[in-house]
Amino acid sequence: MTTTPISLPDGYSFRKLKSSDYENNYLETLKVLTTVGEIKQSEFEELICHWESLPDIYHPRVITNNSGLIVGTGMLFIERKAIHECGKVGHIEDISVFESEQGKKIGNFMVCSLAKIAKEKGCYKVILDCDVKNIGFYEKCGFKNSGIEMVQRFDK
Ligand code: ACO
Repeated sequence: MTTTPISLPDGYSFRKLKSSDYENNYLETLKVLTTVGEIKQSEFEELICHWESLPDIYHPRVITNNSGLIVGTGMLFIERKAIHECGKVGHIEDISVFESEQGKKIGNFMVCSLAKIAKEKGCYKVILDCDVKNIGFYEKCGFKNSGIEMVQRFDK
């Protein structure tokens, strides 16, 4: 079962990320989540081109406000496995809402919509890693705590 997204404010839209979004607040919205660093327009466009060449795997989505500015980001990544009869698992990544737009259910709409896509694409589950402080947010999107994240970092 997936949780129905709470409605977006009037004039806000949910859509695919496009290569023309380089100057449309996408990277600034991601910076609310973590370090983005310097990305040239050509690098951004090559990345979107790569994602678009693998449409069964990558589902990058954005939410725009009533001025057309990107204010929410999210990615659904679909992994094909051998287990569960060659089952598919959805991974939700890079959920971020521009600071001045937080508290308007944009995050909820993004997460619930990505989970819905995962279900429609035949995934048997959808999972994500998050900070303890965001557990309550994800519970309101229909997720439950199911373990702990382990990591080995290769940062420079
Ligand atoms: N803890 C508990 N509840 C929360 C939290 C929180 N941290 N944040 C929001 N909520 C609640 C809201 O109060 C609201 O409750 P209500 O429906 O009862 O009124 C409900 O969750 C929905 O909130 P939204 O308005 O949809 O939240 P918002 O659009 O502000 O997005 C988000 C929340 C994504 C956590 C945002 O604050 C953000 O961008 N934070 C910084 C980046 C971040 O931490 N992203 C998550 C990374 S994990 C990952 O990407 C898989």
